[in-house]
Formats: sequence, C-alpha cells, structure tokens
Amino acid sequence: MIPVNEPLLGERELDYVTECVRTGWVSSAGRFIEEFEERWATYCGRKYGVAVSNVTVALEMAVQCLDLQPGDEVILPTFTIISCAQAVTYADGVPVLVDANPRTWCMDVSQVEAKITPRTRAIMPVHIYGHPVDMDPLLALAERYNLAIIEDAAEVHGAEYLSGWREGPGTWRKCGSFGTMSCFSFYANKIITTGEGGMVLTDDPALAQRLRSLRNLCFRPERRFYHTELGHNFRLTNVQAAIGLAQLERIEESVQHKRWMGAAYTERLRGVPGLQSPVEEPWAKNVYWMYGVVLDESTGLDAVTFAQRLAERGVMTRPFFLGMHEQPVFQQMGLFRGEHYPVAERIARQGLYLPSGLTLTEEQLDRVCAAVRQILIAVSQ
Ligand SMILES: Cc1ncc(COP(=O)(O)O)c(C=O)c1O
Repeated sequence: MIPVNEPLLGERELDYVTECVRTGWVSSAGRFIEEFEERWATYCGRKYGVAVSNVTVALEMAVQCLDLQPGDEVILPTFTIISCAQAVTYADGVPVLVDANPRTWCMDVSQVEAKITPRTRAIMPVHIYGHPVDMDPLLALAERYNLAIIEDAAEVHGAEYLSGWREGPGTWRKCGSFGTMSCFSFYANKIITTGEGGMVLTDDPALAQRLRSLRNLCFRPERRFYHTELGHNFRLTNVQAAIGLAQLERIEESVQHKRWMGAAYTERLRGVPGLQSPVEEPWAKNVYWMYGVVLDESTGLDAVTFAQRLAERGVMTRPFFLGMHEQPVFQQMGLFRGEHYPVAERIARQGLYLPSGLTLTEEQLDRVCAAVRQILIAVSQ
C-alpha cells in the first residue's frame, strides 16, 4: 500500500534527541523549546511563539484569551476539523459558520460580513490542505467591526498569501502572520512534525505572556502555588522541540518537495474526467499539505466508493472533513439546526486526499495517478 503520509525523520533529529537524553533535559524546560519557539516565530514573521502539546489545545488557549461572555460568537468555516468549533464551545461561545469556497475549499470570505452580529468577537480562518484563505477581506472586517482573528494555520507551514493583491502588486506574507493569534500543528502528518505538538504565535507581548501562563497551570511568577486564573498543562517537551528544530532546519526542502508533488499530481491528472484538483490562486502559494481531489457527482462515484477502489489498487487515502453543521454532537447541543452549506456538503461527500507525504516518490505518485485515471476512465465510459 502507498501510505497517505509518513513522517520524514533524519540523523539531525536523532542527534538532537540524543542530546536531550544525554543531558537529562527531557521535560518542558531546555534549550530546544526556546529555540524552536523563536525560530518558528521568526520563520513565520511573528514576534512570539508559545509551544504547546497540539494545535487543538493551542486553539483552546487562543479562544480563552478572548475572554468570551456566554453567547459571544466566533465566525469560522463549517469545512474544518472539530478542534476549531469545540475551542469556541468550550469557552461558552457560539460558533457561527460559513460555507467553503468551491475552488480553494477554504472559508468563503464573501459570506462572513452577513454573519457578523453585535455578539461577534472573532473570526477564525482555517487554511485548508495547504492553500491560504483570502485574508485581506477578513482583516478589513476585523478592523471595521473590532474583531480578533485567530488563524488556524495547522496545515500550511510555509504557505504564503499576497497581502494587498487587490490594490497593487502586494506583499507576500506567510500564513500564520496575520492573526491576533495564529495556531500551528506539528502532528506527524504535518510538514514540520514534533510527533505531537503545536504553537501559538502572536506579536502582542501581553498575549504571549498570558498564553505561557495558561499553558503552565497559571503559576504566578512571584508566588508559585498561588493562582488567580485556571490554566492547563499543555506543555511541549524539550524532546519534541528537539525533533521540531531539526525538522525546521530543512523546511525549505520539505516545502519544495510538497510543491513539486502538487505540480506533478496536477500535471498528471489533467484531463481525467470528473476530477477537480487543488488550485493555486494568483495571490497564493499553496504548499499542498495534502493533495485533495473532488469527484464530480456525474461520475456516479462518491468518495467512499472511490477510496475503496483506490485501496484495491494499493493506494491509501483519507476522506475530506465533514462539516461542523453535520456533526451529531453539535446538533445535540442545539447548534446549526436546519443550516445547510452546499459546497461543504458536496466536497465532504465527494472529496478525499491522495498520498501526499514527504517520503512520496515519483514512482509512487505515478502509480497513484494511474489508479485514479483507470477508475475514472472506467466510470466515464
Ligand atoms: C486545520 C486543522 N486544525 C486542527 C487540527 C488538529 O491538530 P492537532 O492534532 O495538532 O490537535 C488539524 C489536524 O490535522 C487540522 O488539520
């Protein structure tokens, strides 16, 4: 089977982890944590990084920093992972959804303003499968309505957005450099991994300080076992950060490999009947974290059947997200009842992603494309 993803780990990771073991710095203090935080923040164009155990908790802390009152609203895409919406409900807030853009599969930014109410406190854009959200309209809304932006940049290490592209030549900026707070995942299938891990980036020193406090049980610096706020143990270990730092040292190569993979898939799958491939808008640098495809309903195939047929040919895949409005857990909480988001509903049923890991070889990619082509040509005849 060709796997969907395998982490790419090397000698440098081993050297750094060995250093942790030899020196005994295996917990959440040590040189790798700070270095990883600083270097990741710098790479993304931010001032402060706060490393945590995964991005699900990074989003929780970021939303906690908004100090929502019960019933306050956060606008986010329905087409995302549950971490985003549950971060809002855990903070007694209400997630308010918008549909996906049919080309990029990211949130349809043209739908956001209509969802703003006097209770809206923040927008949470989620960059999907490697392609940036069109950030400028969201930044303008955030300014006009005094909203925070929490970017979920879990999937877009190294991706860029051409800020100001509507007005002129614009400036390329990394995804994760826009939000009041921006959150990253370093899970094993991400471009940079720490095994499990995450980080919140911000330019605001007060927020950085609060995030550091929340991550570490809100111990007061002046009096250790004395608390004025409830926090969490969301710490990352030095061992994990050691792996992350080694990974970060070769991020340019990793991003290049992903972009090669994206271009190679797109070229080889061009003209296959009934298949939508990822786009790269002129204002975007897509890092093809996962190479998603969406089947046209006219093929008579849905993603589940397509995945089975690919598996029979030795190709592993993963389904697309199922929209938040279709999640029984939220329906049971009385959320999103009767709401429909046709793009998210269609791509959830018709979309999956193909093997996209950093270890994927050209020969494997060719085999994947041959299998896709064979299946779709057969159903088109
Ligand atoms: C957009 C997005 N947000 C959040 C997560 C959750 O990541 P983690 O496993 O680091 O909590 C993922 C996981 O892939 C994701 O794709």
